Amino acid sequence: MNQSSQDFSGKLVRPPWLYKQWMIAGNPACFFDRLVSDYGDFIHYRGLFNFYLINHPALVKQVLMDTHESFDKNSIIYNRFSNAFGDGLVVSEGEKWKRQRKLMQPMFGHAAVNNYFQMMIGASSTLADQWEESCRNHKVFDLADQMNHLTLEIAGRAFFHDGFTQNSDDISQWTQIINHYSAKPPLPIVTRPWFPSPTNLKLRTALKGFHGFLQEMIDSRRNTTQHNDLLSLLLQAKHEDSGTPMNDTEIREEVLGMIIGGHETSSAALTWIFYELHQNPEVQQKLFDEIDQVIGNRPLTMEDVPKLKYTKMVIDETLRMHPPFWFENRNTINEVELGGTRLPKGAMIAFSRYSLHRHENFWEAPNKFNPLRFEPDNEENRRSSYAYIPFGGGPRTCIGIHFAVLELVVILATISQRFQVIVDESDYHQMAAHLTMTPKYGLKVRLQSR
Ligand code: HEM
Repeated sequence: MNQSSQDFSGKLVRPPWLYKQWMIAGNPACFFDRLVSDYGDFIHYRGLFNFYLINHPALVKQVLMDTHESFDKNSIIYNRFSNAFGDGLVVSEGEKWKRQRKLMQPMFGHAAVNNYFQMMIGASSTLADQWEESCRNHKVFDLADQMNHLTLEIAGRAFFHDGFTQNSDDISQWTQIINHYSAKPPLPIVTRPWFPSPTNLKLRTALKGFHGFLQEMIDSRRNTTQHNDLLSLLLQAKHEDSGTPMNDTEIREEVLGMIIGGHETSSAALTWIFYELHQNPEVQQKLFDEIDQVIGNRPLTMEDVPKLKYTKMVIDETLRMHPPFWFENRNTINEVELGGTRLPKGAMIAFSRYSLHRHENFWEAPNKFNPLRFEPDNEENRRSSYAYIPFGGGPRTCIGIHFAVLELVVILATISQRFQVIVDESDYHQMAAHLTMTPKYGLKVRLQSR
C-alpha cells in the first residue's frame, strides 16, 4: 500500500503460449485481471495477439507521459478504430494530432465548458420532470438506457444548439453500431473495411448516415447565423500557423469522434454511480445530506458546483472502480526500454484501467467503494501518480474531461435532489467490458421521491 508509484522493481514475465486465450472473447477486463494477478505487473503475452501488458503506475506514466514520443496509436486496435473515426483527434497522430488538439483545446477549457451548464441543467431537469410519473407508478425501467438518452441529448445540444431534433434515434443507432464495430477483436482480413462481413457492412451504412447528417448540419449552419455551440466554434476556428479553418471532412470526423467518445462514457459512469449508491446506503445518505445542505430545493447554480465536494468524490470513486474507457494500448515507434527490458519496434503495449485502479499496492481494500479516498489531504489521493487515470494522462489526456465532470455533477445532483434511485429486485447484474465498461444487462431501477 505504501509503495511509491515511481518505482518499478519487477521483471518481465512470459506466461505459457495462449494462456487462457479463450477468456478474451468472454470478458477481456477479467482476462487482463487474471493475467496480472497470476503473473504480475509486466507481462509479455503471446497468443493470437502479442502484447506487453503493464499494470504499474510507473510503467504507465513512462508510456503516457515521460517518454510518450516513443509510443503512438499505430496499433492494430487503433488502426481498426480509424476505419470508424477517420483521422479525428481520438486516433490521429503526429503533426495532424498536434494541430487539431491545439485548435480545439480552448473549446474545452473550464470557462468554455461552463457555457453549457444551463443547458445541462435544462436537459437533466426535463428528465427528472418526466420521472415524476414513473416514480408515482413505481415503474421499473432501465437506467442505463435513460442515461444514454440524456447524455446523447446533452451532446446534441452542445454541438448543435437545438440538439439532434428528429435524428436522435438514428444517432443512437449509428453510435451503437460504431461502438460494436470498434470493440470487436482486430482479426486479420476481417478487419479490413472492404471485407463484406455483416459488421463491416453495418458500419459502412452507419458512417454514411452519420456523415450525411453532419454534412447537412454544416451546410445549413454556413447559411445561417452562428449559435453559441461547438459546431460554430469548430467552423470559426483557424489554425494559428496558417490561418486556415478546418475543412468539412475534418469537422465531421471530430464531431463524430467526440459524440461517440463522449456520451457513452458519461452514461456508463452515471449508471455505475447509481448502482454504487444503491449498494452503499451510508454513502448515498452523505451525498443527499450534502446536496440538501448546498442546494436545498432550489435549482443548482454554477457557484454550488465547487461546494459539492462529496458529490465529486463519489464520481471520482466510481470512475476508479468502473472506468468507462477501461482499456488502453500503444505501439512502440522504435526500440524502447521499459521496466528495465528492451522492447522491439512495433510492439503493442496494453493496460487495463480496471486492474490498475484496483491495484492492491496502491489502493487499500480496492474493491470497497469509499469516496473518502479522494479527500484532498488523504494519503491515498494519488490522482497524479498514474494509479488513477480514468481520463488518461500526458498529452493525450481526454479533451472532454471538464465537460464530462461538469455533466456528471449536474446530472447526479439534479436527480439526487428529487429521487432516490433503487435497484430493482429484477435486476440481473454482470459487468461487461466492450469499448466501454457497463452493466451487461443495463440497470433495472425504480424511484422513490425524496
Ligand atoms: C466520463 C466520461 C469520459 C471518459 C471516462 C473519457 C475517457 C477518455 C480517455 C481515457 C481518453 C484517453 C485515451 C488515450 O490515452 O489515448 C480520452 C480521450 C478523448 N476523449 Fe474522453 N472521456 C470522457 C468524456 C469525453 C467527452 C465528453 C468528450 C468530448 C466532448 C471526449 C472526447 C475525447 C477525445 C476527443 C479524446 C482524444 C484526445 C486526444 O487524443 O487528444 N471524452 N477520453
